[in-house]
Amino acid sequence: MSGPADRDGVREVARSAARAFAEAGDLAALEEARVRFLGRKGEITALLRSIGELPLEERPAFGETINDLKSEIEGLFESRRSALGANGAEEDHFSGDATLPGRRATAGGTHVLRRVVSEMKAIFFGMGYSLAEGPDVELDYYNFEALNFPVDHPSRDLQDTFYVNRDILLRTQTSPVQVRYMERHRPPIRIIVPGRVYRNETPDPSHAAEFLQMEGLYVDRNVSLADLRNDIAFFARSFFGADAKVRFRPHFFPFTEPSAEVDMSCFSCGGSGCAICGRTGWIEIMGAGMVHPHVFRYAGYDPDAYTGFAFGIGIERTAMLKYGIDDIRRLLGNDLRFLGQFWSEAAPEVAR
Ligand code: PHE
Repeated sequence: MSGPADRDGVREVARSAARAFAEAGDLAALEEARVRFLGRKGEITALLRSIGELPLEERPAFGETINDLKSEIEGLFESRRSALGANGAEEDHFSGDATLPGRRATAGGTHVLRRVVSEMKAIFFGMGYSLAEGPDVELDYYNFEALNFPVDHPSRDLQDTFYVNRDILLRTQTSPVQVRYMERHRPPIRIIVPGRVYRNETPDPSHAAEFLQMEGLYVDRNVSLADLRNDIAFFARSFFGADAKVRFRPHFFPFTEPSAEVDMSCFSCGGSGCAICGRTGWIEIMGAGMVHPHVFRYAGYDPDAYTGFAFGIGIERTAMLKYGIDDIRRLLGNDLRFLGQFWSEAAPEVAR
């Protein structure tokens, strides 16, 4: 052990610490070496204790030398420790059985809704539609007024719509993007608009306060209701299978005329009637219709020159139908036992 008289010995301590650390072949051996030099009863401590034996005037300089030595040795120890692969406290205290089989790491997957949206996009892109988007926080003007909603229309009511203030709201449908898009593009246009919409609903198995829609809009010269039927039927067959049938039921929307609700033949019974479709053989999946001339005027299109159709598909609805899911809230929850069922098949990720 180095004494105070032996100041050259300080270098010698540094050298032997470096040697001891280098020779330590594993973390246990390294720990032993650390204790020998840096421990409470180690060589550094002994050197510091011996300061008292020096003449007063030599003590500060010697103390400084020892402190430098200590930092040097600590540095050597740390670098050897990381070389041996210990980067955290965990490895120091590892006390498990290294021969046990490892635990499988769980990997995530694509959420079923995202998958459904990707599939729907791929189908419509194949038909020549392109992608458009709009804001979730929308002006009353685009969500209602320019879509020909009368001022006193019930869906403008606070009960259905989340208002930010008198003019701003959370969009209740993806239809406002129709007007936004037409304001900036000339016909012919053919777009789909997937997005989140918000309604002040009490959640139950078939309702949620926020959900996803996919709007479709096609405007050109001489677009007809037959074109709408054709595109919807093509989509239904592509998404649900070759046997899928659609039917149009007359309905009312302020921004389409004529308007329809579109039903799909029930995925479960194939049309003969069962509990899922309420014995009718049909399930509603979207609203649709021919774009109302007023909407064209709001958007700056000449309603005498152009016609068009629009549709709005409920995405959760579509997913529930395809996979036989009985409660929309499952899609919005975080239960991995449920969501994990949809991870195995790879989703067709579609470039935007
Ligand atoms: N926006 C309508 C809704 O949310 C659906 C719709 C879209 C109807 C386009 C007609 C045309 O109910």
